[in-house]
Amino acid sequence: MTASRAEATTAMRPADQPVLSVKGLSVLLFTETATVRAVTDAGYDVGRGEALAIVGESGSGKTVMNLAPLGLLPGGVRAVVGGSVELSGEDLAVASEERMMQIRGRKVGVVFQDPLSALNPNRRIGPQIEEVLRLRLGLDPNASRARAIELLTMVGIPEPDRRLRLFPHQMSGGMRQRVMIAIAIAGDPELLIADEPTTALDVTIQAQLLELLARLQRQLHMAMVLVTHDIGVVARIADRVAVMYAGTIVEIGTVRDVLKRPRHPYTRALLAAVPAPDAEVGSRFTGLTGSPPDLSTPPAGCAFAPRCVLVQPECRLDAPRLATAGGDHKAACWITTPVSPSGQEFAR
Ligand SMILES: Nc1ncnc2c1ncn2[C@@H]1O[C@H](COP(=O)(O)OP(=O)(O)O)[C@@H](O)[C@H]1O
Ligand SMILES: [Mg+2]
Repeated sequence: MTASRAEATTAMRPADQPVLSVKGLSVLLFTETATVRAVTDAGYDVGRGEALAIVGESGSGKTVMNLAPLGLLPGGVRAVVGGSVELSGEDLAVASEERMMQIRGRKVGVVFQDPLSALNPNRRIGPQIEEVLRLRLGLDPNASRARAIELLTMVGIPEPDRRLRLFPHQMSGGMRQRVMIAIAIAGDPELLIADEPTTALDVTIQAQLLELLARLQRQLHMAMVLVTHDIGVVARIADRVAVMYAGTIVEIGTVRDVLKRPRHPYTRALLAAVPAPDAEVGSRFTGLTGSPPDLSTPPAGCAFAPRCVLVQPECRLDAPRLATAGGDHKAACWITTPVSPSGQEFAR
């Protein structure tokens, strides 16, 4: 594996004002049978040109945490969202639905897991992209056609003229995801949000698409939040990483800090579950024993306690909060990263 992105770009720092600033985000989902605490008190900032990866097991709240700040919530359930979200200083909590639609179209690009669900199967690719360009950017038909060709070229689709005449089912999964990325960057967004954008694809195609996302993010100087299962992906394309467990961020920091000096026992278990130290794209967290708690009945104390090798009696009483493990590297663990009453880290 080549040197990680974090090592190559340690000088990169978020601009003074983050593109995205999330504080105290909590999301409750009301299903027919239960109230699910999908996200609890999550906070993170993402700067211009910076990529934050969100990792964690399935069901840990990655998707909800990534999409809720943009007003995108799971369909079919009632949701209550708390906390504050600022996009380049604009408070999204007070934004109208109309403003949110403008923001999602222009300032933020979203790449979902499954491009087929976002594309209309009965329309050719060209008219679908051109419609987005007309509606979002107010381009006339000639300009939107030219821009569609330019966008397909940017995402590495050869012979864009010909591809624009295809229906989604006439393209491969990888090509369809490239089309979705083209649509996501059409408005020249400040922020790109991607939710496991390559999971359904084969390993070689996954690597190519992630390379594409990383290149576009640098080229267009976007902030990016990328949900992934894959530690190899984190090392390759992220600057910072947030580890989620049971709806909370249990560790956050630079890729170098979190992957090389993990503090939270869950992060350590995740890294140990990856087959090789320098994980290849496609590797998943398979070796971890036990399963995460049911978020409709969260346990008292630390949610990881039942699976934790370092567990102590106090862990079952109170949930630890994120505390600094040095600079902006933070972990929520009574044992490895305890906090004194004054908020200072205990010397260990
Ligand atoms: N549409 C939904 N209806 C009910 N519960 C949901 C829905 N979407 C997500 N959840 C619940 O919210 C929690 C977080 O889910 P999610 O963010 O999708 O996890 P991840 O992306 O990490 O796999 C899970 O407990 C999940 O069961
Ligand atoms: Mg998800």
